[in-house]
Amino acid sequence: MTSIDDLPVRDELRGKSPYGAPQLDVAVRLNTNENPYPLPEPLVARIAERVADAARNLNRYPDRDAVELRTELARYLTRTTGHEVTYEQVWAANGSNEVLQQLLQAFGGPGRTALGFEPSYSMHPLLARGTNTGWVSAPRRDDFSLDVPGAVEAIRTHRPSVVFITSPNNPTGNAVAREDVLALYEAAGRDAVVIVDEAYTEFSHGSSLLELIEGRPNLIVSRTMSKAFGAAGLRLGYLAADPAVVDAVQLVRLPYHLSAVNQATALAALEYTDTLLQYVEQLKAERDRVVAELTGLGFDVTVADANFIQFGVFEDPHAVWRFILDRGVLIRDNGVPGRLRMSVGTPEENDAFLDAAREVKKEFGA
Ligand SMILES: Cc1ncc(COP(=O)(O)O)c(C=O)c1O
Repeated sequence: MTSIDDLPVRDELRGKSPYGAPQLDVAVRLNTNENPYPLPEPLVARIAERVADAARNLNRYPDRDAVELRTELARYLTRTTGHEVTYEQVWAANGSNEVLQQLLQAFGGPGRTALGFEPSYSMHPLLARGTNTGWVSAPRRDDFSLDVPGAVEAIRTHRPSVVFITSPNNPTGNAVAREDVLALYEAAGRDAVVIVDEAYTEFSHGSSLLELIEGRPNLIVSRTMSKAFGAAGLRLGYLAADPAVVDAVQLVRLPYHLSAVNQATALAALEYTDTLLQYVEQLKAERDRVVAELTGLGFDVTVADANFIQFGVFEDPHAVWRFILDRGVLIRDNGVPGRLRMSVGTPEENDAFLDAAREVKKEFGA
């Protein structure tokens, strides 16, 4: 059988594994930070309607610039952050992963470096590798917050072209303070872009950092409909930044990258923003309940600003992960020493997880 190594693949891809959490058939799946609530039926019907309209024109290429969708995304951002955003400042693609990839294609590439603060979203270095961008990892403090003087030092040493700040951070869950982003932006200078990955910002106790794009052309905020909109299957991510950044990604995007079906579905979901944001409120309340219960049980819980919770401390996190899995609950071992991560589910799913966590306490005494 032919293997990858028999093929003339790029050297930096040899021996590597593709990204992916285990997809196991388990009753309670709390491992990929999805929204546990299916889209409401009236929205499903509205999607069918809008997709049918789009289908009547599928012989034609879609709106290459997705202007209607970008206008509605800009309206959503303006409404929810109180900061006026126009469609010229917004760009959309197939999931924020594609947005981030396009940004690396435009601002990274051979001979350039991207820098992130790990542990963080593991796709950032993988996207760097895929775009032939160097990767530098700078550490966080023991409580997983950004070590700002250390971060500034790392930026001065490595002179990256791209800096990733994830807020709230995945997998640790904590948000980044406005002044910390500003300090890093200053340090990065005009030769770098700073990407604030806000995939989970709607779940945060604090506010979005979106307003920071004003007067800062090298600052980019990346967002997604996968989490707060409960539409991970849709594949729709977007960014807000100076219109010049939108011009730059248009140099690397594939023509017609965003299908008419995707655009129609996203527009339907945006019509239901208020309903979908109510689920976000429920999930935030559930998150706070699970944090309180875990803390009460004596676990060490990292500040949780997203729809997931990092907890520990375990001598052997993988053994604890397996123990919880054996009780029908799939969570995530992200490889962070001593810690595991659970995505907040429905109240029933969270109860099943908490039952398993109580048993963990007895068995492992974490
Ligand atoms: C921090 C962060 N950014 C981006 C993404 C990508 O989301 P999507 O491509 O579904 O928009 C994720 C997904 O888990 C994430 O955790």
